[in-house]
Amino acid sequence: MKLILVSMMACMLFFSCRNQTSEIKKLQSRVDSLEQKVKNSYVPGFGEFMSGIQSHHAKLWFAGINENWELADFEIHEIMENIDDIKKFETDRRESQSIPMIEPALDSVNVAIQNKNINQFKNSFVLLTNTCNTCHRDVNFSFNDVKIPDSPPFSNQVFKKVIN
Ligand code: HEC
Repeated sequence: MKLILVSMMACMLFFSCRNQTSEIKKLQSRVDSLEQKVKNSYVPGFGEFMSGIQSHHAKLWFAGINENWELADFEIHEIMENIDDIKKFETDRRESQSIPMIEPALDSVNVAIQNKNINQFKNSFVLLTNTCNTCHRDVNFSFNDVKIPDSPPFSNQVFKKVIN
Protein backbone atom coordinates (compact mmCIF):
# COMPACT_ATOMS: atom_id res chain seq x y z
CA MET A 1 0.00 0.00 0.00
CA LYS A 2 2.80 2.32 1.04
CA LEU A 3 4.69 1.48 -2.14
CA ILE A 4 1.67 2.33 -4.31
CA LEU A 5 1.26 5.66 -2.57
CA VAL A 6 4.93 6.56 -2.94
CA SER A 7 4.98 5.62 -6.61
CA MET A 8 1.77 7.60 -7.23
CA MET A 9 3.33 10.65 -5.64
CA ALA A 10 6.53 10.22 -7.65
CA CYS A 11 4.43 10.00 -10.79
CA MET A 12 2.51 13.20 -9.95
CA LEU A 13 5.75 15.00 -9.19
CA PHE A 14 7.27 13.83 -12.48
CA PHE A 15 4.32 15.04 -14.54
CA SER A 16 4.01 18.34 -12.75
CA CYS A 17 7.75 18.94 -13.32
CA ARG A 18 7.37 18.12 -17.01
CA ASN A 19 4.43 20.50 -17.21
CA GLN A 20 6.46 23.22 -15.54
CA THR A 21 9.37 22.73 -17.94
CA SER A 22 7.10 23.11 -20.93
CA GLU A 23 5.50 26.23 -19.34
CA ILE A 24 8.97 27.75 -18.88
CA LYS A 25 9.88 26.91 -22.48
CA LYS A 26 6.68 28.60 -23.70
CA LEU A 27 7.38 31.71 -21.61
CA GLN A 28 10.97 31.84 -22.83
CA SER A 29 9.86 31.77 -26.45
CA ARG A 30 7.38 34.60 -25.75
CA VAL A 31 10.16 36.65 -24.10
CA ASP A 32 12.41 35.98 -27.12
CA SER A 33 9.77 37.09 -29.61
CA LEU A 34 8.97 40.23 -27.56
CA GLU A 35 12.69 41.05 -27.40
CA GLN A 36 12.85 40.73 -31.17
CA LYS A 37 9.83 43.04 -31.55
CA VAL A 38 11.40 45.69 -29.27
CA LYS A 39 14.65 45.47 -31.24
CA ASN A 40 12.81 46.01 -34.52
CA SER A 41 10.54 48.82 -33.30
CA TYR A 42 11.07 52.19 -34.95
CA VAL A 43 12.90 54.93 -33.04
CA PRO A 44 13.54 58.29 -34.78
CA GLY A 45 17.21 59.16 -35.27
CA PHE A 46 19.00 62.11 -33.64
CA GLY A 47 18.77 64.05 -36.92
CA GLU A 48 15.01 63.52 -37.12
CA PHE A 49 14.53 64.94 -33.63
CA MET A 50 16.72 67.89 -34.66
CA SER A 51 14.66 68.51 -37.82
CA GLY A 52 11.56 68.62 -35.61
CA ILE A 53 13.29 71.05 -33.25
CA GLN A 54 14.37 73.18 -36.22
CA SER A 55 10.79 73.59 -37.37
CA HIS A 56 9.49 74.41 -33.86
CA HIS A 57 12.39 76.83 -33.34
CA ALA A 58 11.30 78.79 -36.45
CA LYS A 59 7.62 78.70 -35.57
CA LEU A 60 8.43 79.79 -32.03
CA TRP A 61 10.14 82.91 -33.34
CA PHE A 62 7.18 84.03 -35.46
CA ALA A 63 4.70 83.19 -32.72
CA GLY A 64 6.75 85.25 -30.22
CA ILE A 65 7.33 88.34 -32.37
CA ASN A 66 3.61 88.36 -33.20
CA GLU A 67 2.93 88.17 -29.44
CA ASN A 68 0.89 85.06 -30.10
CA TRP A 69 1.76 83.74 -26.62
CA GLU A 70 -0.53 80.75 -26.75
CA LEU A 71 1.18 79.43 -29.89
CA ALA A 72 4.63 80.35 -28.54
CA ASP A 73 3.85 78.38 -25.36
CA PHE A 74 2.87 75.40 -27.52
CA GLU A 75 6.03 75.60 -29.63
CA ILE A 76 8.47 75.90 -26.71
CA HIS A 77 6.89 72.82 -25.13
CA GLU A 78 7.23 70.91 -28.41
CA ILE A 79 10.97 71.67 -28.35
CA MET A 80 11.15 70.58 -24.69
CA GLU A 81 9.39 67.30 -25.54
CA ASN A 82 11.84 66.64 -28.38
CA ILE A 83 14.74 67.29 -26.01
CA ASP A 84 13.24 64.85 -23.47
CA ASP A 85 12.84 62.27 -26.24
CA ILE A 86 16.49 62.64 -27.26
CA LYS A 87 17.46 61.97 -23.63
CA LYS A 88 15.19 58.93 -23.58
CA PHE A 89 15.79 57.40 -27.00
CA GLU A 90 19.30 58.51 -28.02
CA THR A 91 21.22 57.06 -25.06
CA ASP A 92 23.63 55.33 -27.47
CA ARG A 93 24.74 58.65 -28.97
CA ARG A 94 27.64 60.29 -27.13
CA GLU A 95 26.28 63.74 -28.17
CA SER A 96 23.25 63.24 -25.89
CA GLN A 97 25.49 64.01 -22.91
CA SER A 98 25.64 67.64 -24.11
CA ILE A 99 21.86 68.01 -24.38
CA PRO A 100 21.30 69.47 -20.85
CA MET A 101 23.17 72.67 -21.86
CA ILE A 102 20.06 73.80 -23.79
CA GLU A 103 17.71 73.57 -20.80
CA PRO A 104 18.47 76.94 -19.10
CA ALA A 105 18.00 78.73 -22.46
CA LEU A 106 14.69 76.95 -23.04
CA ASP A 107 13.60 77.87 -19.52
CA SER A 108 14.41 81.54 -20.09
CA VAL A 109 12.35 81.62 -23.32
CA ASN A 110 9.55 79.91 -21.43
CA VAL A 111 9.65 82.55 -18.67
CA ALA A 112 9.50 85.34 -21.29
CA ILE A 113 6.43 83.68 -22.86
CA GLN A 114 4.70 83.32 -19.49
CA ASN A 115 5.52 87.01 -18.80
CA LYS A 116 4.23 87.93 -22.29
CA ASN A 117 7.29 90.14 -22.60
CA ILE A 118 8.42 90.61 -26.20
CA ASN A 119 11.84 92.12 -25.39
CA GLN A 120 12.62 89.37 -22.91
CA PHE A 121 11.42 86.90 -25.55
CA LYS A 122 13.73 88.28 -28.24
CA ASN A 123 16.75 88.31 -25.92
CA SER A 124 16.17 84.81 -24.64
CA PHE A 125 15.57 83.55 -28.19
CA VAL A 126 19.01 84.87 -29.18
CA LEU A 127 20.49 83.02 -26.18
CA LEU A 128 18.60 79.87 -27.22
CA THR A 129 19.85 80.02 -30.81
CA ASN A 130 23.44 80.67 -29.67
CA THR A 131 23.23 77.67 -27.33
CA CYS A 132 22.01 75.44 -30.20
CA ASN A 133 25.18 76.38 -32.07
CA THR A 134 27.41 76.03 -28.99
CA CYS A 135 26.25 72.44 -28.74
CA HIS A 136 26.73 71.85 -32.47
CA ARG A 137 30.30 73.11 -32.12
CA ASP A 138 30.94 70.99 -29.01
CA VAL A 139 29.85 67.79 -30.73
CA ASN A 140 31.62 68.54 -34.04
CA PHE A 141 28.47 69.43 -35.98
CA SER A 142 29.29 73.13 -36.33
CA PHE A 143 28.36 72.95 -40.04
CA ASN A 144 24.74 72.79 -38.81
CA ASP A 145 24.61 76.51 -38.14
CA VAL A 146 21.19 77.78 -37.02
CA LYS A 147 20.01 81.39 -36.97
CA ILE A 148 16.97 83.53 -36.34
CA PRO A 149 14.70 82.94 -39.35
CA ASP A 150 13.94 85.75 -41.81
CA SER A 151 10.59 84.49 -43.03
CA PRO A 152 7.92 82.14 -41.64
CA PRO A 153 8.79 78.49 -42.33
CA PHE A 154 5.32 77.57 -43.58
CA SER A 155 2.78 79.49 -45.63
CA ASN A 156 -0.06 77.25 -44.48
CA GLN A 157 0.05 78.25 -40.81
CA VAL A 158 -1.03 81.54 -39.25
CA PHE A 159 1.46 83.00 -36.76
CA LYS A 160 -0.37 86.25 -36.01
CA LYS A 161 -2.80 86.01 -33.17
CA VAL A 162 -6.31 85.42 -34.41
CA ILE A 163 -8.67 87.66 -32.44
CA ASN A 164 -11.67 85.64 -31.40
C1 HEC B 1 23.61 67.75 -28.15
C2 HEC B 1 23.68 69.13 -28.39
C3 HEC B 1 22.71 69.73 -29.37
C4 HEC B 1 21.83 70.74 -29.06
C5 HEC B 1 21.60 71.39 -27.70
C6 HEC B 1 21.17 71.07 -30.29
N1 HEC B 1 21.61 70.28 -31.31
FE1 HEC B 1 20.98 70.34 -33.25
N2 HEC B 1 22.17 68.77 -33.70
C7 HEC B 1 22.96 68.08 -32.81
C8 HEC B 1 23.55 66.94 -33.48
C9 HEC B 1 24.45 65.91 -32.85
C10 HEC B 1 23.09 66.97 -34.81
C11 HEC B 1 23.38 65.96 -35.93
C12 HEC B 1 22.34 64.86 -35.83
C13 HEC B 1 22.56 63.72 -36.79
O1 HEC B 1 23.36 62.85 -36.49
O2 HEC B 1 21.88 63.69 -37.83
C14 HEC B 1 22.24 68.16 -34.91
C15 HEC B 1 21.61 68.55 -36.09
C16 HEC B 1 20.82 69.67 -36.21
C17 HEC B 1 20.23 70.15 -37.44
C18 HEC B 1 20.42 69.54 -38.82
C19 HEC B 1 19.26 68.62 -39.09
C20 HEC B 1 19.27 68.12 -40.52
O3 HEC B 1 19.09 66.91 -40.67
O4 HEC B 1 19.42 68.92 -41.43
C21 HEC B 1 19.50 71.26 -37.15
C22 HEC B 1 18.71 72.11 -38.11
C23 HEC B 1 19.61 71.47 -35.72
N3 HEC B 1 20.44 70.48 -35.19
C24 HEC B 1 18.95 72.47 -35.05
C25 HEC B 1 19.06 72.69 -33.69
C26 HEC B 1 18.38 73.75 -32.99
C27 HEC B 1 17.45 74.77 -33.61
C28 HEC B 1 18.74 73.63 -31.68
C29 HEC B 1 18.37 74.50 -30.52
C30 HEC B 1 17.00 74.79 -30.27
C31 HEC B 1 19.66 72.50 -31.57
N4 HEC B 1 19.82 71.95 -32.82
C32 HEC B 1 20.23 72.09 -30.39
C33 HEC B 1 23.20 68.42 -31.49
C34 HEC B 1 22.55 69.41 -30.79
